[in-house]
Amino acid sequence: MSHHKIEVSNLHFSYPDGHEAIKDISFTIYHGESVGIIGANGSGKSTLLSLIMGILFPDRGEVKVGEVTVTKKTLAMIRQRLGMVFQDPDDQLFMPTVFDDVAFGPRNYNLDENEVKTRVEEALEMVGIPHLIDRAPFKLSGGEKRAAAIATVLSMKPDVLIMDEPTSGLDPKSRRKLINILKGFSHTKIITSHDLDMVLETCDRVIVLKDGEIAADGTTQEVLTNGKLLDSCGLEIPLSMQKCPVCGMIK
Ligand SMILES: Nc1ncnc2c1ncn2[C@@H]1O[C@H](COP(=O)(O)OP(=O)(O)OP(=O)(O)O)[C@@H](O)[C@H]1O
Ligand SMILES: [Mg+2]
Repeated sequence: MSHHKIEVSNLHFSYPDGHEAIKDISFTIYHGESVGIIGANGSGKSTLLSLIMGILFPDRGEVKVGEVTVTKKTLAMIRQRLGMVFQDPDDQLFMPTVFDDVAFGPRNYNLDENEVKTRVEEALEMVGIPHLIDRAPFKLSGGEKRAAAIATVLSMKPDVLIMDEPTSGLDPKSRRKLINILKGFSHTKIITSHDLDMVLETCDRVIVLKDGEIAADGTTQEVLTNGKLLDSCGLEIPLSMQKCPVCGMIK
């Protein structure tokens, strides 16, 4: 289904202070792929996601979703198809209750209130927080906020799920729950993370960014076992793939 294809071509972006954050990046993500975008702090991961979502616009090059180029004019359509969970859940939650936050997107599409309620309940069920429906988002714990932020995107039923550092700040159980949720989605997924063990479990392809450029783009196995490459990009082989210091075995 080519309409879910995301095509990034010769993308360049500098922040207003002149900092060149994205330098000539090109790749295509196909329907159903799960792609991890990894790289050291400041390598350009969040900037790249913002360019894909049309939160920022490139100086040169373009992003196409299916046949549609991301521009200010096409944003409404793009946002129906791509749902993004931000690095900081506080950027996503702003309503008085979790219900209202998760209902915000569906209400914007003028769905009737029964359908909105069903979507909210389904989304909260998927992320395991149906009991928080009437709570104030700003009073939730970090992990609860992240689950609520993911639900605000799921309630929109996007074709493509984009997540910036989804496991940061999660305790081991919440992290495991999130990994299982991600594995359960048949959506096209783009996930940035420093949690390379999570990337190993949830992504079949990995793009490595270094100083705003693509340092590697390959299968997860290929990229995450390449110690030399990861080291040169300020990263390490995932813990679960490192040899046991005592017996030398890989788990
Ligand atoms: N608003 C801004 N103005 C100027 N430079 C910025 C701005 N936001 C980010 N940058 C710079 O752009 C580069 C890429 O930042 P970005 O946030 O995309 O990195 P990242 O890979 O997501 O890092 P992290 O792993 O820390 O989240 C960095 O050098 C950063 O300092
Ligand atoms: Mg970031």
